[in-house]
Amino acid sequence: MSSGQSYVIRPAASDDVAAATSLVRRSIAELCQADHHNMAAIVEGMLINKTPENMQAWIETPGSYVFVAEAGPIMAGVGGLTGDGEITLLYVAPDFRFQGVSKALLAALEDKAREMGLPNCALVSTDTAQRFFEARGYAGYDKNEDDFGMDATSMTKNL
Ligand SMILES: CC(C)(COP(=O)(O)OP(=O)(O)OC[C@H]1O[C@@H](n2cnc3c(N)ncnc32)[C@H](O)[C@@H]1OP(=O)(O)O)[C@@H](O)C(=O)NCCC(=O)NCCS
Repeated sequence: MSSGQSYVIRPAASDDVAAATSLVRRSIAELCQADHHNMAAIVEGMLINKTPENMQAWIETPGSYVFVAEAGPIMAGVGGLTGDGEITLLYVAPDFRFQGVSKALLAALEDKAREMGLPNCALVSTDTAQRFFEARGYAGYDKNEDDFGMDATSMTKNL
């Protein structure tokens, strides 16, 4: 696939729950080694809320927005946003890494936040994605270790 690949970004629907959950879990397990260092307890902590039940709630709850990026028939990424501008999900399928998926999804999430009249977006970044978010205008202000031993950096961007 070329790096010039374009993606269709669309709101997730209820029948995306299984594929979206699986994509997010693979993205964490396979791409976030800088965070979990393949340590089972940390991987487990990162996956603990990435369940089909939660994905269904994130997709179906009014005021919560989940988008998927598709390359033809294949789901290539999943992004999520709350009604107050917190980016809760931004995950690329391992096979599509560094092919523009997260950039396209993040732009769609920020567009949605602007459409809602929000002044900024906030997120808690993995170490894996921190450089990505910095390059997109997010600034970190707080680094904490969570209950499972993972570093998490709070970042915001003025829209
Ligand atoms: C790092 C990551 C977010 C990049 O997303 P992607 O869809 O693979 O890549 P994209 O093509 O959309 O973005 C490329 C950008 O990533 C950044 N990038 C490039 N190499 C990188 C690396 N090794 N590590 C981190 N960021 C990198 C650059 O800013 C690059 O922008 P540029 O092309 O303008 O230089 C993704 O690969 C990843 O690891 N995701 C894991 C899940 C995760 O941590 N999500 C965030 C939850 S808060």
